[in-house]
Amino acid sequence: MRILLATSELHPYSKTGGLGDMVGALAKYLAKQGHQVGVVTPLYRGILEKFTGIKRFEWLLAFPLGKEFVRGGVWTLQPQQNLTVYFVEQPRFFDRDGIYQGSSGDYDDNADRYIFFSKSVVNLARYLPLQPEIVHLHDWQTGLVPLLIRHQFETGGWGNRPRHCLTIHNLAYQGVFEAANFALSNLPQDYFTPATAEFYGSLNFLKAGLCTADQVSTVSPTYANEIGTPEFGCGLESVLSELQSPVKGILNGVDYEEWNTDANPHLARPYGVDDLQGKRANKLALQKQLGLFERADTPLFVNVSRLVEQKGADLQLEAVRSLLNLDIQFALLGKGDPLFEEGFSSLAASNPGKVAVTIGYDHALAHRMEAGGDFFVMPSRFEPCGLNQMYSLRYGTPPIVRDTGGLADSVTDARDDVGMVNGIKFREPHVGALQKALFKALAVYKDPATLRHLRRNGMRVDFAWEHVAARYESMYREMKARPLSTLIRHLDPAVHLTAKIAKNT
Ligand code: ADP
Ligand code: GLC
Repeated sequence: MRILLATSELHPYSKTGGLGDMVGALAKYLAKQGHQVGVVTPLYRGILEKFTGIKRFEWLLAFPLGKEFVRGGVWTLQPQQNLTVYFVEQPRFFDRDGIYQGSSGDYDDNADRYIFFSKSVVNLARYLPLQPEIVHLHDWQTGLVPLLIRHQFETGGWGNRPRHCLTIHNLAYQGVFEAANFALSNLPQDYFTPATAEFYGSLNFLKAGLCTADQVSTVSPTYANEIGTPEFGCGLESVLSELQSPVKGILNGVDYEEWNTDANPHLARPYGVDDLQGKRANKLALQKQLGLFERADTPLFVNVSRLVEQKGADLQLEAVRSLLNLDIQFALLGKGDPLFEEGFSSLAASNPGKVAVTIGYDHALAHRMEAGGDFFVMPSRFEPCGLNQMYSLRYGTPPIVRDTGGLADSVTDARDDVGMVNGIKFREPHVGALQKALFKALAVYKDPATLRHLRRNGMRVDFAWEHVAARYESMYREMKARPLSTLIRHLDPAVHLTAKIAKNT
């Protein structure tokens, strides 16, 4: 198949979280399976300097953006057979220190930046020799693409338009802007309705995509169910439960070529399921690097995370603080909300040798923490998929997770299956529940046979991307099998509602 992916982050070129990992791996493994794959992503600052093989592509991007006319360029790289990355160059929008934010918060022209990007995606989808059959969009930054394609389908002679799908990586980020920003799309105003991009008077990029993409998916089966409820739906639960074709939940995978313990340049020593001695060496090396007491026998809890409420950073801070009278250690690598950064930093300052906090983003250290820790703590309030718990399973570092979203789908607790147990789950998003889970972990730690059982079970779980790419492939095939005429939804909410009532009676 010919497939074009579009994303605002792509590992190894740009990344703030799991989105970059996921799309990078999806592209790589679809290409390995013989599909012709393109990925469109912005050319952020520093990419050209770091990846010297990127070449200028003879392609001019030139579109109206509201009343302005904006130009851009395209650069390409072929990192492997069957895969081409198209970097959208627009220095005013993308040559900045951050991806979405600067030092004073979100950039105030994010609507302009990602509408320009979305127009570039549509232009490439339509005119590249690749002629994609599927355009696979990711998150709110690409949410307007289906509407932009629709306009060219209806009025611009693009009758054989590709099928498009949108994957939700995190429903909490919707791309909500003042309604006036819709004009930047240059789409007719009658495309802006409650059946598309309009949400309580504002412009909502993600909602536009959910309502108009041929298929919507998300990154775990449990999250796919959760987002149909008010607790997790972030206001879009009824939009999601009304979709013609239900949201598909496909659990992310792990790129084991990168996230492994036996051939990993970042680790102090290789190890594997039958040789856990190497893990001990990694623990001692990590303790040394972080300035923790070098004690192989003291249980070391670790976490690598964006420091935001979603990840339960506040729960973690309180629960860890309450356990520091015991012989434990805690190490955190993270970046995010200044309140959490300060909270963790001051915990480290008052507990030297026991608590180590690194504020920042450090890819190599992330690997070392996964390898050197005894338990990985991930008390997320919600988690669409979560990758770190899957990495930690492979690294023999049992995860302690809240029983939600992709955490529920990827970790096996003793209550799920005593034979296959590989981690610890807790239900309530409260400090007390997390504390209890940490105590359970300490009991496991004191019992070497049980600890070994958890570690080995975790290291043997197979989240290989080959399986995940095959699931996307069958989703694409199902989409292609549906006639285009059945996929077009009416833009007028009244007509849409009448059709729905007719269907249900
Ligand atoms: P999310 O995408 O919600 O942040 P995931 O668990 O899906 O959560 O993915 C997080 C990814 O980002 C992982 O690859 C993790 O190692 C990486 N990561 C997060 N914070 C940091 C950090 N401070 N330094 C290095 N890597 C980080
Ligand atoms: C988002 C989610 C995370 C998921 C990642 C990749 O950032 O918060 O749970 O693993 O996307 O899909």
